[in-house]
Amino acid sequence: MTKRALITGITGQDGSYLAEHLLNLGYEVYGIVRRNSVTENQESRIEKLRGKINLTYGDLLDTSSIDKILKNSNPDEIYNLAAQSHVRVSYEIPQFTVQTNALGVVNLLEAVKMHCPNAKIYQASSSEMFGNSCDDDGMQRETTPMHPVSPYGCAKLFSYSLIRNYRNAFKLFASNGILFNHESPRRATNFVTTKIIKTAVQIKRGEMSHLELGNLDSQRDWGHSKDYVKAMHLILNHEKPDDFIISTGKTHSIRDFCKLIFSKLDMNYRDYVKVNKKFIRPEELSFLCGDSSKARKILGWKPEYTFESMVDEILEHFLKSL
Ligand code: GDD
Repeated sequence: MTKRALITGITGQDGSYLAEHLLNLGYEVYGIVRRNSVTENQESRIEKLRGKINLTYGDLLDTSSIDKILKNSNPDEIYNLAAQSHVRVSYEIPQFTVQTNALGVVNLLEAVKMHCPNAKIYQASSSEMFGNSCDDDGMQRETTPMHPVSPYGCAKLFSYSLIRNYRNAFKLFASNGILFNHESPRRATNFVTTKIIKTAVQIKRGEMSHLELGNLDSQRDWGHSKDYVKAMHLILNHEKPDDFIISTGKTHSIRDFCKLIFSKLDMNYRDYVKVNKKFIRPEELSFLCGDSSKARKILGWKPEYTFESMVDEILEHFLKSL
């Protein structure tokens, strides 16, 4: 029988790759789109999927829309990827961030409990939940204590905990994927990787004079979104609900990322990168490096992209498209 999947946040980087992956696996795919007065760019990532997926307007904060969508789609699997996903922006709009990223998950879980208690739920949890906490070897694991350092991270920790609570209390099949940073050509350009690559290409072409960034010394564990959405599906198709870290286990500083990209374009980043306080966060998460051994062993997941091939794909995209 054809399986039905509902994706919240289907218009985003991960939502669009996940929709493609599930269609390839033979799923019937439903998606929730937030109403926006300018629709033109909003659905650009899923433009090619038109006619193949079922889209409905809705919002995690509009409980009546969630009720309707669950009743209409009667999903086997629900992927909750909807969120205010930018960490620095969460300081500018903390209440909206907490409402969407935390209260939105309460709304979804309550609606699932009422309308489709047998549906499996994937929650997009984040390595931002760890804050500056790590094990003695510097890595983060499923067992590492979580001490978030942003409104975004705090809200994600609330939802992560609620998923575990509803799993135990109401026997829902509810799982967390604790995903470390993951990038692609579809990444919005206010995240650091695509911001650096896009601006470096523009500088190379003489269209920009310099690149303004915040903290150059933080380090991130960057993978490719396409690999990470495959993990989401494996997590929900495991025999029992559980929580899994998805990461590459390798980390790079923002400075090294700049060095690499500018040198690929035959430039020296020191000549073009300036620090602007505006992009420095009130509290910074300095170092992320995830140990995904549990997912690799239990789910058989492993990334196909390397850091190099991920970077090259994004660079090629901007060289062609700009
Ligand atoms: N965005 C941005 N813009 N980040 C900058 C800049 C800048 O101009 N300059 C330095 N950075 C630094 C940030 O301070 C941070 O340490 C790092 O670059 C990465 O920033 P982002 O690319 O914005 O990602 P993030 O780590 O804050 O959050 C992403 O990863 C999380 C998983 O850990 C997002 O995708 C979150 O939604 C996700 O949960």
